[in-house]
Amino acid sequence: MIGRLNHVAMVVPDLVEATGLYRDRFGAEVSNPVDLPDHGVTTVFVNLPNTKIELLHPLGENSPVQGFLDRNPRGGMHHVCYEVDDILQAATALESTGMRILGSGKPSIGAHGKPVVFLHPKDGLGTLIELEQV
Ligand code: CO
Repeated sequence: MIGRLNHVAMVVPDLVEATGLYRDRFGAEVSNPVDLPDHGVTTVFVNLPNTKIELLHPLGENSPVQGFLDRNPRGGMHHVCYEVDDILQAATALESTGMRILGSGKPSIGAHGKPVVFLHPKDGLGTLIELEQV
């Protein structure tokens, strides 16, 4: 069902410092910060040869990552994203095994403009898992 690792997302308290780590110390190719108001985050994309790292910082009043940052003031890994061919089929198949899909339970348009679902971390070995249809 799942395919490539699309990205690993990390919430960071300081986007400039985090970008500097990846660009200046690790020598990675990084994007400029991108505001995603619909998702309540500002993102810097770190392009690695085989996947991406997404550095996330809260944007606006009701950011979905603010709570994470409150609990983890130094930041940390937030979720991993695996690619799937058919998001509805994947979500239906996983739900039929008892896995919980966050939010409405239906795919929504994710940060890359593609359909995504998030699986409950308690069903994912303690890790928030995003599935993205590519
Ligand atoms: Co993501």
